[in-house]
Amino acid sequence: MRKLIVLCLCLVTSAFAQKFEGLVLTPPMGWNTWNTFASNIDEFMIKETAEAMIKNGMRDAGYVYIVLDDTWSAMERDAQGNLQAHPVKFPSGMKALGDWLHARGFKFGIYNCAGRKTCAGYPGGWGHEFQDALKYAEWGVDYLKYDWCTAGDANPKDAYTRMRDALWAAKRPIVFSICEWGGSKPWEWAKDVGHLWRTTGDITDCYDCIQRWENGWKVILDLQHSQVQPADGQNNGIGKFAGPGHWNDPDMLEVGNAGLTFAESRAHFSLWGILAAPLMAGNDVRKMSPEITALLTDKEALAINQDPLGKQGWRFRREPGREIWVRELAGGEWAIALLNSGDETAELEIDFSHGFWFLGGECTVRDIWDKQDVGTTAQPFKKQLAAHDVAYLRVKPIKK
Ligand code: GLA
Repeated sequence: MRKLIVLCLCLVTSAFAQKFEGLVLTPPMGWNTWNTFASNIDEFMIKETAEAMIKNGMRDAGYVYIVLDDTWSAMERDAQGNLQAHPVKFPSGMKALGDWLHARGFKFGIYNCAGRKTCAGYPGGWGHEFQDALKYAEWGVDYLKYDWCTAGDANPKDAYTRMRDALWAAKRPIVFSICEWGGSKPWEWAKDVGHLWRTTGDITDCYDCIQRWENGWKVILDLQHSQVQPADGQNNGIGKFAGPGHWNDPDMLEVGNAGLTFAESRAHFSLWGILAAPLMAGNDVRKMSPEITALLTDKEALAINQDPLGKQGWRFRREPGREIWVRELAGGEWAIALLNSGDETAELEIDFSHGFWFLGGECTVRDIWDKQDVGTTAQPFKKQLAAHDVAYLRVKPIKK
């Protein structure tokens, strides 16, 4: 009987292990090459970046996935059809780079594409899924971002499920990041396929510029918000599809990049916390200012993004010049972001006596960016905010 129980337990355990559940119970954090470096990547700068992240505290703050985006591979597969590292940019090869990163406490991420070519024209995964998954496992890959260029009229769910099955068959736990840009509403089908899924096209380093394919973070925020109409009067949008182990991905961070003011970087970072978004830094962390380092590694802000309840927040109010976003946290606490969406400095206010019934009574209020406790929700909260800046608050019920 005991043997039978042990056998059953083993079978159950291996069934779960094989599906790689539980890899990202909070949104994954790391750094990705694309937003700043695009195709200008090589093993030297990856190592410099990793070393900088050890020194500046990012690794220890949780940014552990270092992801090589498009253009890391050779232009052609080898004679056996295997993907291979770009011989000039990564002469030591992928296994060596993965080992180097692992020895320093990082996880190793890589990019490819469901189509025949990646977006930058390198070999894609179409028809090679099982072979590639074995290669990734051999190289020690821990995270795969899988894009959607050149996939033609393929069915996204089928294509991504095929790659997921290939990863499962290769048996190395790999976080699977679906980068299909939201066209097929992946939040509706991807929970059992990948661990995170892009919800929109690409982000770029501006507040609200609209380009054909790349948009500022505020445009992405609004797009994500509008993708599904309020279902329950609270969660305006697709937040209800996210939770521990599977996340909506409004794209990587532009925090610290030249097109954003400090206020805009700070608001972007705070709102990605409200959205329970994956935090993939996309700036040159070897050269960032002390203010940006402090922002990216702020413990209180990261605690909101990484809150174990894993509930995505929503926009609670929008008026000309002001938005209020809220997110429920574990233990009955809440995060609130008050965004100055106007183009001038302004004094903004939150009057907690209007509509904040969900807080469940009087709460203490902590201003995260000012690092101070600022009274309770019995008084309105007021703050002078630069254009596109936020007040980022954590409120906690006063137990009576
Ligand atoms: C697409 C993705 C981006 C990036 C590039 C690389 O545009 O959405 O995040 O990976 O491809 O070519």
